[in-house]
Amino acid sequence: MPHGMHARLPRNFVLEERLERYARAIELAPRDWRGRWAAACAPLGAAPYREVRLDLGCGKGAFAVESARREPDVLFVAMDSEPICVAYAAQRVCESGLPNVIVVPGTGMRVREFFSPGELSCIYLNFPTPFPRKREAHKRMASMERLMDFREVLAPGAEVRLRTDSQPLFDFMLTQVPIAGYDLVWQSRDARADFPDAPSSEYEERLGAQGARVFALAATPGPGPAPEHPVQTAELSLAAYLPQDLETLEGLGYAPHGMQATVTNLRNRALREAARDRSRI
Ligand SMILES: C[S@@+](CC[C@H](N)C(=O)[O-])C[C@H]1O[C@@H](n2cnc3c(N)ncnc32)[C@H](O)[C@@H]1O
Repeated sequence: MPHGMHARLPRNFVLEERLERYARAIELAPRDWRGRWAAACAPLGAAPYREVRLDLGCGKGAFAVESARREPDVLFVAMDSEPICVAYAAQRVCESGLPNVIVVPGTGMRVREFFSPGELSCIYLNFPTPFPRKREAHKRMASMERLMDFREVLAPGAEVRLRTDSQPLFDFMLTQVPIAGYDLVWQSRDARADFPDAPSSEYEERLGAQGARVFALAATPGPGPAPEHPVQTAELSLAAYLPQDLETLEGLGYAPHGMQATVTNLRNRALREAARDRSRI
């Protein structure tokens, strides 16, 4: 679970029991299906799925299940590194009765072990954990390093799609897209207004109710060869992407998830500086 948003577990929640109860929706050996997901997961006697898409960091699975309901000929692989999320997502899949969504415990650090070249037609990053500090930046899914990995498993023309409440993470990702040799397909700083019918995730619902705007983009590997030695030139601390002046900071009605303390510190620092400037006059 990401900082500050630990799932409140029901009193009788026993992880092992849950994982067992919903095991039919969970794939424990994803490496075995590398290169074969579309055919191997299709119902017996049915044609292979038209596409395979990955919901990376799926949380409790609402987005993957709703997407699967809307597109029955596409296989949605919902992956999360947290066993609790896997259990919740698997429960949702079982209760939906949908055949075209499967939950996989795994880390986005290792997608190349789970999928073969060109196997995925989309990787969704819905509200990925922002890891705002520089020293944790290597854990971000929205980063040049991951984009370089993802391009190995994406089909030609396939997309990485990011949705986030975090303007700093979004602006950071905009710097990463060209470094990894991707083209920006579209971007939106108010995706709920621009795409009101898109399925939403648990975080989108929860943070939206708290006043979050949704920043979203789609990017696809560019037509040229992959950058051979991409160099990270962007500022890694997400604090650097926050507005620095007091007026804009004061105007921020909503502090991005995981960055509330940083916003408060910046605001206090700006207030102290303003007070110091006034005392000098
Ligand atoms: C903020 S939650 C968002 C969950 C869901 N996508 C949503 O929008 O409601 C981020 C999720 O990413 C998962 N996560 C973080 N790092 C991961 C990684 N390296 N691989 C897979 N999942 C990861 C976390 O366990 C968490 O469930």
